[in-house]
Amino acid sequence: RSDIIARSVTILRENDFGGYTIPAKGLYPYQWNWDSALVAMGWAMFDEARAWEELETLFSAQWADGMVPHIVFHRPCSTYFPGPDTWQAGSSTHSSTGITQPPVAAISVRKIVEGSGNREAALRRAAALFPKLMRWHRWFVTARDPEGRGLVATLHPWESGMDNSPMWDEALAAVPVDPIPPYVRKDLGHVDSAMRPKQAEYDRYLTLLYRFRAVGYDPAQLYHMSPFRVSDVCTNSVLYRANRDLRWLALQLNETEAVFEIDSWLERARAGFETLWDGSAGIYRSQNQLTGTLIPAATSGGFLPLFAGVPSTDRASVLADTISRWADSVRYSVPSFDPADVRFEPLRYWRGPVWAIVNWMITDGLRSYGHHKLAERVIRDTRTLTSSSGMYEYFNPIDGAGAGGNNFSWTAAMCLMWLD
Ligand code: DGY
Repeated sequence: RSDIIARSVTILRENDFGGYTIPAKGLYPYQWNWDSALVAMGWAMFDEARAWEELETLFSAQWADGMVPHIVFHRPCSTYFPGPDTWQAGSSTHSSTGITQPPVAAISVRKIVEGSGNREAALRRAAALFPKLMRWHRWFVTARDPEGRGLVATLHPWESGMDNSPMWDEALAAVPVDPIPPYVRKDLGHVDSAMRPKQAEYDRYLTLLYRFRAVGYDPAQLYHMSPFRVSDVCTNSVLYRANRDLRWLALQLNETEAVFEIDSWLERARAGFETLWDGSAGIYRSQNQLTGTLIPAATSGGFLPLFAGVPSTDRASVLADTISRWADSVRYSVPSFDPADVRFEPLRYWRGPVWAIVNWMITDGLRSYGHHKLAERVIRDTRTLTSSSGMYEYFNPIDGAGAGGNNFSWTAAMCLMWLD
């Protein structure tokens, strides 16, 4: 145990580039949005001031319209593609990508405040972030749900954080590949190609990027012109949970008007989630907004409404049964994709491997619904993986091998989170 703590702390310190933590050396050399917010919770376990700094640095790159970008390019670096020269985006002070990521930050703020030894001082730091969090969440509602579906749209697989999930296969295949400038992938210089997205996917990731760049990343245009537009069950679950935590913060800060505004977002979203439930499969799904179809892929993102606190207790039990079934058919839980599906690939990124951050969200949700035994099983599995294979980005659920980047910040952060 003390070994894991020391190892995790060392990884965060080594990946600390001064106010922000990179996810992993070489592969991901900048500040990633949801990585940072999750990593801040890890920092808070041993250095609260540094945890606040992580979030403050992230929000220093917030766009004028409220969006917080998915990557902030704080410094030049030649080991990553597509970098700032390709994106050509940012605020007046920071160069960044032109898309966002699941909004974990408010969840992180609440966790840090609750764990703080000096609540008054922590609330002062949180109060400074509060209006920025409100602006980001409001941006989600206005820019990404202009038609009032109750579910926000994700316009790029990179925005989901689960880039090559089978969830996106069909919707992404429908994106035409434009005659884009030739490019060289740098991820394959760091990680075996069997663990990464395929070329056909990258061509479409880049096509979307160039189309978005051509309209200056104007949110009003993007929503209508993007050939990829989905209701991602993970992003919507994270946003719902983040709104509940932001509401909690608003109450601490006596921000009554904000409480009413957040309540209206939560109410709208509850109706939206109803449309994603697949009772016969015992899981929530994502939806392709452009075709209206519920996407035929059961992924670990489909368990995250538990983390949001959306399902009834009956439905939560159904989800717990599905998780148990998946766990029983592999050695280490929770695989990111249904192991019984022919498209399951235990080593390829989001098409099967276990991810510590998803396990953290799932176990937080399971515990809140009283499924403690199953939560303990998932935590035990993750601990075994990290202590025997190392602090990898993800793990093969069948033989436990570590995959992707090593000395990975959010994996280390989750190990610290599980100490309480
Ligand atoms: C990558 O480059 O693989 C990232 O997932 C993009 O966010």
